[in-house]
This record gives sequence, C-alpha cells and structure tokens, in this order.
Amino acid sequence: MNVISLVRVGILVLWLVAAGSLSAEPITIRFSHIVAEDTPKGLMALKFKELVNKRLAGKVNVKVYPNSILYGDGNVLEAMLLGNVELAAPSLSKFQRYTKKLQVFDLPFLFRDMDAVDDFQRSEAGRKLLDSLEGKMLVGLGYLHNGFKQITSNGLVRVPADLSGGLYRIQSSDVIETQFKAVGALPLKKSFSDTYRLLKNKSIDGTENTWSNIYSQRYHEVQNYILESNHGVLDYLVVTSAEFWFGLPDDTRIVLKRAIEDSIAFGNRVAQKKAKTDRAAVIAAGEARVVELYEYERQQWLQAMIPVWKKFEDDIGQDLIGIAVGSNAVSK
Ligand code: LMR
Repeated sequence: MNVISLVRVGILVLWLVAAGSLSAEPITIRFSHIVAEDTPKGLMALKFKELVNKRLAGKVNVKVYPNSILYGDGNVLEAMLLGNVELAAPSLSKFQRYTKKLQVFDLPFLFRDMDAVDDFQRSEAGRKLLDSLEGKMLVGLGYLHNGFKQITSNGLVRVPADLSGGLYRIQSSDVIETQFKAVGALPLKKSFSDTYRLLKNKSIDGTENTWSNIYSQRYHEVQNYILESNHGVLDYLVVTSAEFWFGLPDDTRIVLKRAIEDSIAFGNRVAQKKAKTDRAAVIAAGEARVVELYEYERQQWLQAMIPVWKKFEDDIGQDLIGIAVGSNAVSK
C-alpha cells in the first residue's frame, strides 16, 4: 500500500469513527408546557420523561419545561414547526388556527361527565380528530384529560345574567369568546401566565378554568366566588411535528409512542383524582366561596348557550356534534 492509499484509508477510518460517534448522540425531546408541575399535564410530562429515561436510556433524552418557561401556548406550535421544541400538549381550545373540528370540545354543556368525554375521544370520530392536524405538519399523539371548567369571579355568579358587563380572561378560542358574549360578558383572550396577575390587580373580574388550574395558580386566593358550573371541558392534545416524528428511527418511534400512551393513562388518573382533591383543597382554604348550581339555574345556562352551538355547527359539522352528544348516552 503506498502513502496515498494509506492516507485515504486513514481518512476513511476517521470519517467512520466520527459518523459512529455522531449517530450515538442521544435524541433530545423538549416537552414545553404552561401549567404547574403538580397538575395532570405537569405530572404526565414528568412520567413521560421517567419512562423514556428507563426504556430508551442513552438513546433519547427528555427535558421538561413547565410554567411557560420555554414557550407559551401562543407560540409553541410555531416553535415546534421550526424545530425548536419537540413535544407540547396545548388545550384543545388552542388549535383553531390549525383546524375547526377540535372546536367541538369547547361547546358549552356538551359532555355530561368525563366518561362521556372519554367515550367520544375513543370513538372512531374522536380518533380521526387526532389526525386533523396532518395537513399542517403536526401529529396528534393522543388526548390527555384535565377536567371540567368552573367560573371564578369577584362578584357572586349564579345565573348567566350575573356575568353581564364583566371582564373575563379566556383561552384563545372563538367558541369560548362567543360563550361569554352570549351572556353579555366581555371576554379577553389572554395568556395563562398573565391570568393570576390580572385577577390579583383586579384588571379583570374573573375567568374559567379547571379545579387543578384554579388551585395550582391560586385563583381562589384572589377571587371571591367559584361557580361550580362544570360547563365545559378542558382537555389536551399531545402534539409533535411531523418532521421530527417521522424522522425518528422506526424502533425508537414505537417505544416513544408507547411511553406517550402510558404517560397519558397516568395523567388521566391524576386528572380524575385532582378534580376531587384540588376542589376539596380550594374549599378547605376557605378563601373563595364555592357555589353549586340548582337545576333551575343550570337550565338558564343551557338556554343561554343555544346560540353558541348554532354559530359553530357548520364549522364543526352537525354529524360530529351528534356523535359527541351521543357519547352522553353511552357513558350512562
Ligand atoms: C389555559 O390557558 O387556561 C389552559 O389552556 C391552561 C392549561 O394548559 O391547562
């Protein structure tokens, strides 16, 4: 072998060593979310990290960023499409720029209980909705529960008219905006991370959220009343980008999908528990008064929400709404 051949072999060996060490670099998954760690989504994300660390040790490294420290829901999906974050789980209310179909979940008083939500999400139509982001280069990996929303306020709220003229922070959903407008309130689309401050300094009169978000964000400390209206569901879509997901080695993707499913099942159990324990903790704190609805008051809410359903039935599709309504019968 002459000197030139030896140099060529040397370069080839160096190249193979470099390529080998590059491919051995672990894949990093950044999971960005906006809630506290001790919540259904916060604990689901940590469970995912734990499972991946065990099942794909040395191959995949998960980093969880809670409390909007990396992105808020207003920019996380753009960041994902740019490759700056790999996993997120925004609420189903925050996808309207990408699909109108998921708006079905925001229709007020649609689901009787979380079993009905579960049945709908597991139905063929519900599973199909997971694919509704396909054309947008995003992949829906699964639904995660949080629970039903309640209305927190400075002044006593029992019936729709009590919201009239009040300023309420809402998620970025046109259905929810219409829901508040239908009762004469002034809805304000503001980020989750701003809400406590707005409530505390009385820039707004109230908001709606689940027991776990109310408790972990301490809304009960800065609000006088919480109407236990259970008027709408706040669930999540665990989402990634098509480029990242389909760029993964097949065997790694299969293990990650399983870890997502297992951590969602865990998060759903947390959600079920926290809907009770965080409610109890809010009541025990004795700061905001929790108000339960009488049936005749609930009927007034149902009546007031009819125009909201009407306004969105074409965008969402009557067939899809029908299937969601039908899940109430299945769950009983
Ligand atoms: C909100 O903005 O109120 C919720 O989407 C927060 C969350 O992720 O639970």
